Amino acid sequence: METQESIRTVTTIGEMQALSEQWRKQGVSIGLVPTMGYFHDGHLSLIRHARQRCKVVVVSIFVNPIQFGVDEDFEQYPRDLERDSRMAAEAGADVLFAPAAAAMYGATFQTAVQVKQITQGLCGASRPGHFEGVTTVVCKLFHIVKPHLAVFGAKDYQQAMTIRRMIIDLDFDIDLDLAPIVREESGLALSSRNEYLSPEERREAAILFQSLRLAERLILQGERDPEKVLLAMQAMIDAVASSKIDYIALVDPETLTPVQVIDRNIRILLAVYIGKTRLIDNYLVELSTGID
Ligand code: PAF
Repeated sequence: METQESIRTVTTIGEMQALSEQWRKQGVSIGLVPTMGYFHDGHLSLIRHARQRCKVVVVSIFVNPIQFGVDEDFEQYPRDLERDSRMAAEAGADVLFAPAAAAMYGATFQTAVQVKQITQGLCGASRPGHFEGVTTVVCKLFHIVKPHLAVFGAKDYQQAMTIRRMIIDLDFDIDLDLAPIVREESGLALSSRNEYLSPEERREAAILFQSLRLAERLILQGERDPEKVLLAMQAMIDAVASSKIDYIALVDPETLTPVQVIDRNIRILLAVYIGKTRLIDNYLVELSTGID
């Protein structure tokens, strides 16, 4: 279907499954962009990506209660379904799937999908239960929307690698595409949570990307010791008064295990509080030859 300005909103699981079933019978390819709404250009780039590859594009909006910890921002998480609906339509989505929490998790719900290893460190260490909540809801969305393709953003890199693992381990016949991070001019990665930042914090939040670029410069100049790169990043971020580092890690891009020596492409992941807002970002540092 072509880019359009109206969009069909589906709120029940039964209607979504019936629609997808019908598309599948007609041989129509289905792209799914799972989101929690409150769209920015990052989300729109995922929708446009799915639009390029599939005949129909379904965008799900569901602020998933089970992936938030008790002290986290589930209640506060920004929501604006009307605005999202307009933006999704303009970006070329055909259907907005926006179920109620009670429809997704009935009173007797008791199942969880857990990817065991790749979820242990990084965000998994700071947010216990988070990835189990993510994989459980994404697994449900896959069964409801029955997509051929699912598109996720590279900003949530550990999430994307976790879902990739789940797709492989649970034999979902679904392609996963990772769309590049979209950034503000300052380098700050777009996120619905940027909404929480004051104008000053927003300026300061650019330090995440600046520290990633510093790491890249050091590595491209020949630094091979991850510890030294980490210390330089820490010093740069700590110089911003409102910042508090949750973690910085230089990891293998596939397994997400820390590298001992930088002798191949690595991915740097970090989570930093700016004021009360926890932000994440990551960056692939590519060594041209792989060896010195
Ligand atoms: O990245 C998100 O917005 C969420 O974690 C997701 C994948 C939609 C699952 O709730």
